[in-house]
Amino acid sequence: MYGFRRNAQGHACLGETPLSELLARTGLETPVYFYDLDAIAREARNLRAGYGSAPHVVAYAVKANSAGSVVRTLAAEGVGADVVSAAELEVVLGCGIPASKIVMSGVAKKDAELDFAIASGLLAIQAESVEEVTRIAVRARALGRQARIGFRLNPGVEIESHAHISTGHDKAKFGIARADVARAFEAVDAAGPVLLAVGLSAHVGSMLHEVAPYLKSAQHVCDVARARRASKPGLEYVSFGGGFGIDYGGGPTAEPADFARQAVELLGREGLSDLMLVAEPGRSLVGAHGVLVAKVVQSKVSADNAWVMIDAGMNDLLRPALYGAKHRVEPLDRERSAPEWRVVGPVCESSDDFGAHPLGPNAPEAVVIRDAGAYSFTMASEYNGRAMASEVFVKSGQIVSTSASPGAAAWVKRRLQA
Ligand SMILES: Cc1ncc(COP(=O)(O)O)c(C=O)c1O
Repeated sequence: MYGFRRNAQGHACLGETPLSELLARTGLETPVYFYDLDAIAREARNLRAGYGSAPHVVAYAVKANSAGSVVRTLAAEGVGADVVSAAELEVVLGCGIPASKIVMSGVAKKDAELDFAIASGLLAIQAESVEEVTRIAVRARALGRQARIGFRLNPGVEIESHAHISTGHDKAKFGIARADVARAFEAVDAAGPVLLAVGLSAHVGSMLHEVAPYLKSAQHVCDVARARRASKPGLEYVSFGGGFGIDYGGGPTAEPADFARQAVELLGREGLSDLMLVAEPGRSLVGAHGVLVAKVVQSKVSADNAWVMIDAGMNDLLRPALYGAKHRVEPLDRERSAPEWRVVGPVCESSDDFGAHPLGPNAPEAVVIRDAGAYSFTMASEYNGRAMASEVFVKSGQIVSTSASPGAAAWVKRRLQA
């Protein structure tokens, strides 16, 4: 049994084990993130099965969750990585992901980051502008190395998602616009042998519920790939990005393996089946397989308002404040029931609000915030002098590793020294 579930007593569990028991075993102070490594491994296997025998690399978007235990679990499933900084690259290499399965994206990679990526011999550095293509050539020449590059194309496709996670439209800072693709190839070809143009990618944004917008963007990648191949050899892969949605409680989304199957079919129809397919999923591999456990500090009832105030805040889980995201918040050790309470954190911002949730007639002692495996801990901050939460990694009901909070004292020391 994997993932988040309720046992017969109504206790929130990861797999078979109640979260309150896991929390007691660690002796850690809340808030604590718990992750189910078995469920993450299964997610990777399901997605990879969608590609069948087609040559592919699942390049996990590490920004979703960069914990070593998570990355090592995915590496063991044959997964690669999509990184956006030198630090992320160091983590994934340290977790044993081979450079040949790593792509680096990002709109403003610094020279030192490009140098590290070039020296590491990645599958590709995905250039996001014509200007960057030229900078990569300069860095490769300085290092006396050849750089393998891909273009991240901006497909000009709008998706139905929050504006902050829609990246493939005309006004987005991401990717090489349709109008600039020819110039980008001219820049590569003019640079000579220091640059090898090996790939083309696009990523329309996150939380896709259906495959159609993904295929629309993928079609643009295929069109550019066919045109390039007609004039020059060298392309090795196409990537249609990530963005596969998960069910945060609002209803099911298309399965990640459906995106994979349809990508394989599209390549076949386009006569490009000899190219390797790269996918860059983040959220879909880890999002549903992490939870944040918080204690209730106090409740507050005033006029028509009933608040439950917890010890996790927007500094621990920013998505509701940043994107208006709704995570299910449930009592830790009993089923949900009416009435609703407004669940808020301790941070001095009105946006530190996790929404209204049916927590029962009396405020519970602790709550579990679901689907907090992606873009949760990785977006955390120490705002308001609040130390980062602890993280606990679980496999077959056993705690296999723990990353304890640095604690408030470390923050105090750094602030006093500043
Ligand atoms: C280039 C790129 N690839 C992949 C991803 C991962 O997206 P998701 O977590 O929605 O799969 C992102 C997310 O920001 C991205 O920018």
